[in-house]
Amino acid sequence: MKLKYLIFISVVSWLFAIKANAAGQVEVLHWWTSSGEAKSVKVLKQMMEQQGDSWKDFAVAGGGGESAMTVLKMRAVSGNPPTAAQLKGHDIQEWGRLGFLTSLDAVAQQEHWDKVLPPVVANIMKYNNHYVAVPINVHRVNWLWVNPKVFKAAGATVPTTLAEFFVAADKIKAAGFIALAHGGQPWQDATLFESIALAVLGSADYRKAFVDLDMAVINSDKMVEVFQQFKRMKTYIDPQAEGRHWNSATEMVIDGQAAMQFMGDWAKGEFAQAGERPGIDYLCVPAPGTQYQFTFNIDSLAFFKLKGTEADNIAQHDLAKILLTPYFQKVFNLNKGSIPVRLDMDMSTFDQCALDSMQAFKQASLSGDLVPSFSQNLATTADVQSAIVDVVSEFFNKTDPDPILAPSRLAQVIKSAI
Ligand code: GAL
Repeated sequence: MKLKYLIFISVVSWLFAIKANAAGQVEVLHWWTSSGEAKSVKVLKQMMEQQGDSWKDFAVAGGGGESAMTVLKMRAVSGNPPTAAQLKGHDIQEWGRLGFLTSLDAVAQQEHWDKVLPPVVANIMKYNNHYVAVPINVHRVNWLWVNPKVFKAAGATVPTTLAEFFVAADKIKAAGFIALAHGGQPWQDATLFESIALAVLGSADYRKAFVDLDMAVINSDKMVEVFQQFKRMKTYIDPQAEGRHWNSATEMVIDGQAAMQFMGDWAKGEFAQAGERPGIDYLCVPAPGTQYQFTFNIDSLAFFKLKGTEADNIAQHDLAKILLTPYFQKVFNLNKGSIPVRLDMDMSTFDQCALDSMQAFKQASLSGDLVPSFSQNLATTADVQSAIVDVVSEFFNKTDPDPILAPSRLAQVIKSAI
């Protein structure tokens, strides 16, 4: 009896050992560290663990991902890349060209990605016609986040144009509130600049300037006006903004210190985490003057060639597969503030901000007003993008910058980065 029992125990432990060995590990590099972002990424971790795989979190704090990219380069160059990393737009092509990324075509075919994804999105995920990355969501960048109680207390009206923005901001400032919550980091300066550029230039010239890099638009009178409006924004920001993280600025709108923030809809994840209700405790409205336009930011994970075990390779495919399942698309995006990237999702559980975003996305793609966000690295190469961000941020942080000189400086640095 005792022997039988021992045999039974050893067989069971042997089976468990096989199962444990079969389970692989994924290591995922990302910069989702704010409370809304962390909640979103936890869904992925849980889903992987439910499959029996283990999750090694590789979070590098810093909105916009600059620090994460530096760390990724170091790891890849030393021959030890993670399973997957948050990479966007042109960066996917660059890493593909360097030979670091692995093909996901087997998963893509099995899961019919070509059918469920919009072709524009699918193309960004492919290098040399092979899937090497998986999209997760669509973020709209040109949003303004509003605290309606502050507006009410100041007797101000929620702005729909830049002119109305300045009227409202003056009233809010006079009533003793901070009109504009802003984080003084270069990528956030660029995020603000981008929404103003979209309003002033319109979608066609925005595209010419930041996608086609057309010098006639970059160095134009209209661009002078963009810098003029941008400069005015500075007067509505508090002196402590320098270095502030984007989610701390969102916090200022949540707790009523500040009235507004220009930020992509990842900000909604922070409102949601604080228990705030859209349309009641906070409002999401298009950035002034950009009602029918949509600057898109698509988060995606790119997948690296691995030296790991067979189990790790299987886990890598499990991860790729999970990202586009309807369940993950729903739960992740509800927490993250974005809209799903799959075309066939049931949107009934999403809130008004997400429904507005979806509607704007569809309309803008028909009208030519769907444009890639340069501040989020979707419009151009990393070199050109960082050149633009440098000029914009340097301008914004000078004591009395000259908007007339700024466009020629912008043209000059873009030319040298192309
Ligand atoms: C963006 C990213 C978003 C959001 C934001 C702030 O680059 O695409 O998903 O997380 O940074 O961290």
